[in-house]
Amino acid sequence: MKVLGINALYHDPAAALVVDGVTVAAAEEERFSRRKHGKRPVPFAAWELPELSARWCLAEAGLGVGDLDAVTYSYDPALAEPADQLGVDDPWDHLRQTYAQRAPGFLAEALPGLDPAAVRFVPHHVAHGASGALASPWVGEDVDVLVLDGRGECGSHLAGTYRGGDLTVHAAQRLPHSLGLLYEDLTDHLGFLRSSDEYKVMAMASYGRPRFLDEIREHVFSDGRGGFRTEPVDWQALAKRLQPGEEWTEDHADLAASVQARLEEVLIELARWLRERSGGRRLTMAGGVALNCVANTRILEESGYEDLWVQPAAGDAGTALGSALHVAADLGDTLRPMPGADLGRGFSEQEIERWLRTAQVPYERPDDVAEAVAQCLAEDGVVAWFQGRSEYGPRALGHRSLLAHPGRKENLERLNDVKGREQFRPVAPMVRAERAPDIFSRGPLPSPYMLFVHDVAPAWRDRIPAVVHVDGTARVQTVDGEREPLVARMLEGFERRTGIPVVINTSLNTAGRPMVDDPRDALECFGSAPVSMLAIGPFVVRRPGVA
Ligand SMILES: [Fe+2]
Repeated sequence: MKVLGINALYHDPAAALVVDGVTVAAAEEERFSRRKHGKRPVPFAAWELPELSARWCLAEAGLGVGDLDAVTYSYDPALAEPADQLGVDDPWDHLRQTYAQRAPGFLAEALPGLDPAAVRFVPHHVAHGASGALASPWVGEDVDVLVLDGRGECGSHLAGTYRGGDLTVHAAQRLPHSLGLLYEDLTDHLGFLRSSDEYKVMAMASYGRPRFLDEIREHVFSDGRGGFRTEPVDWQALAKRLQPGEEWTEDHADLAASVQARLEEVLIELARWLRERSGGRRLTMAGGVALNCVANTRILEESGYEDLWVQPAAGDAGTALGSALHVAADLGDTLRPMPGADLGRGFSEQEIERWLRTAQVPYERPDDVAEAVAQCLAEDGVVAWFQGRSEYGPRALGHRSLLAHPGRKENLERLNDVKGREQFRPVAPMVRAERAPDIFSRGPLPSPYMLFVHDVAPAWRDRIPAVVHVDGTARVQTVDGEREPLVARMLEGFERRTGIPVVINTSLNTAGRPMVDDPRDALECFGSAPVSMLAIGPFVVRRPGVA
């Protein structure tokens, strides 16, 4: 079966294609439209569809619209209720329902030749759940799934068990209670962009003490039946509202730390409840809350599950894939685990070279681009690394990455300057999987998707200071040499030169812009930021005078 999955309604529009149970393509619309998150997460924008990514998915597989057996839409308007009935303050929410109901017609406009009857609505949290369980390495086995996000049709959570492709739901929390919306409210209160900048709150939390934890506990608690309550919190009484860009104080960091700590506590209780209910050993997670890598490590440690897999595109973008997997299973396909996060666009050597010629930049083709990059990094250069297919989900995982030497503490500030972003934001280490246990503990290893935090061994903290967060942790990406031979060779080359098996890896973009996706984006990013080298396919472009 050929199933095209669409996420459009709330935020992070995306498309994914599943052919005979195999995930062949998945991409976020922002990488094509060059508009961060694809659109604003407001009801007025709910009609916008991931047209470019959907068309690309079909082209990538050499399919026409007429070849599709189904198109999925990761929201079911038949399940929706008016916002005031849900206790949600959203006077324009009815626009979402109208646009969702008409999505089959809109999709037929966007994809000429599509029969609107081929469009299937998939409940939002079922789509998230499938993006966890049915994309995981354990697809086909018994596996539990925990979904937590801002909101779907009427809820913000689902706890269930997949047996084969069949989902049994054990608990689902109805709105207005939502851990995702609670975190979004705090994000907004701290002067950041709601539904977008939640990871900045997580970063800020590590600078604070959970001084307001008791107050937050009174408002946010699990109900003992697999669900939870989130009563409104008077944020202003705890820390003054921040305007965008305004300097934050100890109060703000302490508030972030308190909410983060409470989120972790409640998530652990929800996961424990699910494990006791199902008797399961393996948990999968999805929904935007599952991008909280600090919480993920604690859930694995304290919930009683033996193993935890988190969908790398855990936010709404992942529901494009999840809804497609759900319907593919329903149509009888045997599903395969997603092969990796590199499900987006890739470019041939010829295509890349054409872009370099068009830009008229001097470029060279070294014997081994991995060695050329390792040398540049060892000399303390910053490298824009563009290799293979782009990543699905918010993390750069060695395909569209900005790399630097982790041994110089000032490289954290330098990279944040290159990217034009806040100085309290951490950068992450990448390391070959076989070297990771020597340096990192706590958190699962290998960890290919950078979704957990790990402790850095004391002996290494001074050797890789740029990637060690203030609390002694790091958000590690491990690299499997068989799957990622080029990245592994670059890491080996760097270790041979410096004795350090770790390289800084952060996303290849500048502040407020989506990650680089095609060669033009890479050249534009390289052209506008003080980066020493662009390594694009087998070619390198050097910037003279920048170390
Ligand atoms: Fe969601």
